[in-house]
Amino acid sequence: MESAHAHRKDEHLALSEAEYRQQQPVSSLKQVRLIHNSLPEINIADVSLAVRDEKFNFTTPFYIEAMTGGSNRTGKINQQLAQVARQTGIAMAVGSQSVALKDSDAIESFTVARQTNPDGFIMANIGAGHHAKAAQQVVDMIGANALEVHLNVPQEIVMPEGDAEFIWLDNIADIIQTVNVPVIIKEVGFGMSAETIQTLYNMGAEYVNIGGRSGTNFAVIEDRRNREQHKSFDFLYDWGQTTAESLLEAQSLTKAPIIFATGGVQDPLDILKAQIMGAKAVGVAGHFLHTVLQAGPDGLVDEILNWQRQLKKLYALVGAKSADDLANVPYILSSELLNYKDQRHL
Ligand SMILES: Cc1cc2nc3c(=O)[nH]c(=O)nc-3n(C[C@H](O)[C@H](O)[C@H](O)COP(=O)(O)O)c2cc1C
Repeated sequence: MESAHAHRKDEHLALSEAEYRQQQPVSSLKQVRLIHNSLPEINIADVSLAVRDEKFNFTTPFYIEAMTGGSNRTGKINQQLAQVARQTGIAMAVGSQSVALKDSDAIESFTVARQTNPDGFIMANIGAGHHAKAAQQVVDMIGANALEVHLNVPQEIVMPEGDAEFIWLDNIADIIQTVNVPVIIKEVGFGMSAETIQTLYNMGAEYVNIGGRSGTNFAVIEDRRNREQHKSFDFLYDWGQTTAESLLEAQSLTKAPIIFATGGVQDPLDILKAQIMGAKAVGVAGHFLHTVLQAGPDGLVDEILNWQRQLKKLYALVGAKSADDLANVPYILSSELLNYKDQRHL
């Protein structure tokens, strides 16, 4: 019999897919319009999607974001996602490994990702409530190339069995200083303010994933799990900053960490826009999960190969030979987004 923690992982998977099917998310990046250039003076063959970063030398600027592991069912999904990552050459994060620190039966559902993709770029994942020793353990568990440390206060608040203590800064500082792989501090879909990003930067964070709202919504998912208690947190369903808003928050800082983005990405144009707004790399969770559940690993391989081809064409459309050229692409914001930017003095 699997533990309650493992069962929770199955519920997250099932509920996020049910929500996705009921209503495919609309990315907040739809509120950003790129300005067309009729003369991009470019040859598509000269475009490179490679991410140039000292520690994250991805061949493609998007990756499979943290989702699964912890139960038999989610271990199977990790195996499929790792197979897809190997076939397409993209990076992948596993879901939170805290369950495997408490229950050794759950370890295999994470190590399967490394076994399936021995040479791939795989990121470990753990919550910020854990000490540095636990963080190093989850890295070692899967021979990870990087570690994601997730911040998820609203999720814990809505979760019936959620944490009640959110004193995390010392853990985060220790993890950044001691873990032997690059560390990304990551939100799970509630976005980040400039103040939060600044705090993380001041304490030494080199990489921050703003993980914004407009995609998978853990206030909704946990509330669905909550249903038997009839104590809904439906007033928190639109809590937090969207991905587009969070990227504007990050842009306002003169000294900032390297920014990654995730949250609501549905197509290659969303990826391009996030990059133009400052994201070095972009994680995709819900959409890839939906695809692998509906179309199997082969279907997800097709989708990712297609996105890679389309993204290359989109770079050409905006006249960019590489990510370095994206910073020059002009864009405008919807009036709603502009209003947000003005009120926040960004
Ligand atoms: C089923 C599921 C489980 C998730 N579990 C984790 C997790 O364990 N750790 C984490 O950092 N993020 C987790 N996430 C959040 C994603 O990594 C991502 O930040 C979020 O879903 C927003 O991206 P999306 O809109 O593309 O889904 C999970 C997402 C899904 C769909």
